[in-house]
Amino acid sequence: MKYSGFAYINTIGCQMNVYDSEKLASILKSYGFEKTNDMDTADIVVCNTCSIRHKAEEKAFSFLGRFAKIKKKKPHLITVMAGCVAQQEGKKAFERIPHLDLVLGTQAFSRFGQHIDSIKSGQQRIVDTKDSQMIYETMPDTACFDENKVSRFVTIMQGCENFCTYCVVPYVRGQERSRLPQSIVEEITVLANSGVKEVTLLGQNVNSYGQKEGQISFPQLLTKINEINGIHRIRFATSHPKDLSSDLMYAIRDLDKVCNHLHLPVQSGSNHILKKMNRGYTRELYIKQILELKKQCPDIALSTDIIVGFPSETKEDFNDTVDLLQKIEFDSIFAFAYSDRSSAPAAKFPNQIDEKEKSDRLNKLLKQQEHYTEKKNKDQVGKILKVLVEGKSAKKRNGFDQYNKTIEQMVGRTESNKIVHFPIEHVNIGEIIKIQIESAYSHSLWGHPVGTGA
Ligand code: SAH
Ligand code: SF4
Ligand code: F3S
Repeated sequence: MKYSGFAYINTIGCQMNVYDSEKLASILKSYGFEKTNDMDTADIVVCNTCSIRHKAEEKAFSFLGRFAKIKKKKPHLITVMAGCVAQQEGKKAFERIPHLDLVLGTQAFSRFGQHIDSIKSGQQRIVDTKDSQMIYETMPDTACFDENKVSRFVTIMQGCENFCTYCVVPYVRGQERSRLPQSIVEEITVLANSGVKEVTLLGQNVNSYGQKEGQISFPQLLTKINEINGIHRIRFATSHPKDLSSDLMYAIRDLDKVCNHLHLPVQSGSNHILKKMNRGYTRELYIKQILELKKQCPDIALSTDIIVGFPSETKEDFNDTVDLLQKIEFDSIFAFAYSDRSSAPAAKFPNQIDEKEKSDRLNKLLKQQEHYTEKKNKDQVGKILKVLVEGKSAKKRNGFDQYNKTIEQMVGRTESNKIVHFPIEHVNIGEIIKIQIESAYSHSLWGHPVGTGA
């Protein structure tokens, strides 16, 4: 059997999966497979999957399903389902994808290489969904990174024990466990030394980092990361409103590298629904925390996640969410129609909302939010903002200046996570520059560099 030594990895799902895919790539590299973007040349195809909503799950099955034909022509091709759908489905995955070679659960990464070897030597249909309750620890292999990005994700904890009634994460990612602070600091130092300027720390509930293990708290971890030379910006996601501490607010306020932005998923503006979701806070507590946060950090940018059409959500409950959006005026939101997940308790709740109603509510909410996002963007016009230069923009700007020129543009982000385009001048990727904002659009800003800003 001849292996050309190329691996194709398709990542579906959250930022944590993007991070995990890089780990899978580095394991594959040590087993002789280089990453490729050309699926046709690959000898191993991995789909790192997500089961948060039905659509994400279907994407995984449809991607892997198409290899039935290809495997007939190329029998040595190894197909792998990794991640959350793999953990959830186990050997059931073979019912829908009989040609699959390996089902690699979320906690089986440390055994990935050994499974590849077994398949190469003829073993078929391997399933590994063993709950090892460990975090697969390796230092990042920068050679496996997709591009030479200035911004990277770093998972600091895994699993979740909040058991929101709609959510699969506690079932597919296991119990909450935090990495050792020294290992996180070491990893970020490696990234900084390779030119990374910004890190986003990941966990399902970063506010409870280290609590179970009796380690340092999340704000204390931020303090340590703030000291790493070469890192200019620190972001994190996701914080849970029920555990938002004053210490975290002070950390955002006082640590110079921690961005002035908080992603705080509210999910619903109705107390009745929040209770059914098992979120552990009320609408009033959420608003109180936002007010306190704004007192400590007046210009803080806010974003959130919302689910519409949760079982038994009435028009009044939905209007409470609409009203909350109006009260808080988030900079941006991620809104989803509730998706039934058979492993989560809400699947058995009475009064499920029909799909048409869910999508109407979703559209209404998104439309309303567009208005606030645009307003928040317009508020930036005239300001001078610090922008981390990420690279050349894929799009060009038309009608530039009085000669109606079309020019190439660069793209970067403000501390508040707003996308800024600006003309290509003598700026380097990874630099922080000051940009005078001249115009605002629904999803981005435009301006001119007026100096360096680090
Ligand atoms: N740990 C994070 C989010 C994890 S999942 C938190 O607690 O907020 C990301 C988002 O997906 C959630 O915030 C929620 O808005 C959405 N989500 C989770 N399960 C869902 C479901 N069954 N249907 C629709 N959206 C869902
Ligand atoms: Fe899911 Fe809730 Fe845990 Fe977030 S906090 S991952 S929504 S169970
Ligand atoms: Fe999806 Fe798993 Fe992330 S279910 S959202 S890939 S933790």
